[in-house]
Amino acid sequence: MRILFSLVAVLLLAPVAGAQSLGEALQDCPGLVVSSDSASQQIHLQMTDDPTKMSVLWAKTGRSMNQIVEYQWGSEALEANAESYCYGNHNMAFHMATMTGLPLGEEIEYRVGTQNSQMSDWYSFTTIDPTETHFEWIAIADHGDSSEAMDVTEAIIADEKAQMVTVSGDIAYADGEQSAWDSWFQFQQESMTHIPWVTAVGNHENEPGYEFAPYEHRFDSDQQIESETFWYSRDVPGVHMVFMSTEHDYSVGSTQYSWIEQDLSSVNRDVTPFVIVYGHKPMYSSNSYHGSEVELRNALEELYVAQGVDLVIAGHDHFYERTWPVSAETVMDTGKDNLFSRGQGPIHLVIGIAGRSAYEELDEPQPEWSAFRENNSYGWTRLVYDGNDAQLSLTHYRIDGTIGDQFTITESVWDDDSGDSNILGLNGIDSFLTMIVLLGAVIRKR
Ligand SMILES: [Fe+2]
Ligand SMILES: [Fe+2]
Repeated sequence: MRILFSLVAVLLLAPVAGAQSLGEALQDCPGLVVSSDSASQQIHLQMTDDPTKMSVLWAKTGRSMNQIVEYQWGSEALEANAESYCYGNHNMAFHMATMTGLPLGEEIEYRVGTQNSQMSDWYSFTTIDPTETHFEWIAIADHGDSSEAMDVTEAIIADEKAQMVTVSGDIAYADGEQSAWDSWFQFQQESMTHIPWVTAVGNHENEPGYEFAPYEHRFDSDQQIESETFWYSRDVPGVHMVFMSTEHDYSVGSTQYSWIEQDLSSVNRDVTPFVIVYGHKPMYSSNSYHGSEVELRNALEELYVAQGVDLVIAGHDHFYERTWPVSAETVMDTGKDNLFSRGQGPIHLVIGIAGRSAYEELDEPQPEWSAFRENNSYGWTRLVYDGNDAQLSLTHYRIDGTIGDQFTITESVWDDDSGDSNILGLNGIDSFLTMIVLLGAVIRKR
């Protein structure tokens, strides 16, 4: 549970609580020491559902008052107060502040820390403009702190074009050891101060003695202290992203199911033609270690198919696998040269390769729905939305720099046998467009 420990709040509440001393109020944070001010660490952006607002979180050892973010662009210079909190008996105080009124597509400079005293270095990020026709980002899952995970971290830092990182769960593998989270955030700080990392919760975020509290306090998806949000969505150029929890009730009729149903049915495809669902456990996996989460598939696949979800990006099994567009284990389309038209059925990805030991044993024979799988590599995936070509491309990079897999989903439907799925309603023009798209794909491959 989050415990606010603002001095002002404590002083105001003290008389009501019956002469409760500051020391007593802080006993709910037994790991916190009343120390002199310390440097901000683990600084990371937190993407909100409003592109003109960006939150930033940071940690300090001990109790430091008057925490703020200062931010500026052009001739504007603003500041916002932070809310402060702790969890469990961890010896870190956390601070969260939200920068508001930000111009879109602009570079914002900011720093955090103690007002009129110890402030951090300046960092910068560029706000995401939803009307852009181009957007690039990196998707990972099952990260941790192995040397392979560090390679992935380095690759993310070196990527100057990625505008965000998504993590499909199993993030730091702290598993009850809170200093592991602290180290993990320090390792990612160079990237996380520059672009937002947006997360779905995994089973390793459900920690012994803490449950989901560390995850909730370190990634505050709704910027609301004392609330629990494990499912939410974000819009970026061309793409609506749903972050759901495979670690909480998702059965038909559950709160989460109803939210996903409502969220997916309210997507404006004219604004965000592509829909991606991020979750930790995979509906489809032919890895022998965990395999397909059949209960999850039974609950949600029909909804994803009906709502035209394009991609489902999971982790949990530590290997890479891509399905064909699939529904109820039936292959709906096999595309042409890794080019797929959208709307044929979701493609499911398992990308649990960002650093944890590979699960090498695979189900044999390879199921029909499995299009590509790789069981002994580490890496990340990179996605590009290109609004001019109306397509979404994904590339799976290995940490040695080679490419493991690549495919593209086009917004236009070019396999129009049904006659009713032609977005132009003109078969001749559609076929012509198909040829251009295919030609473009061939040229790009060269
Ligand atoms: Fe994992
Ligand atoms: Fe997992």
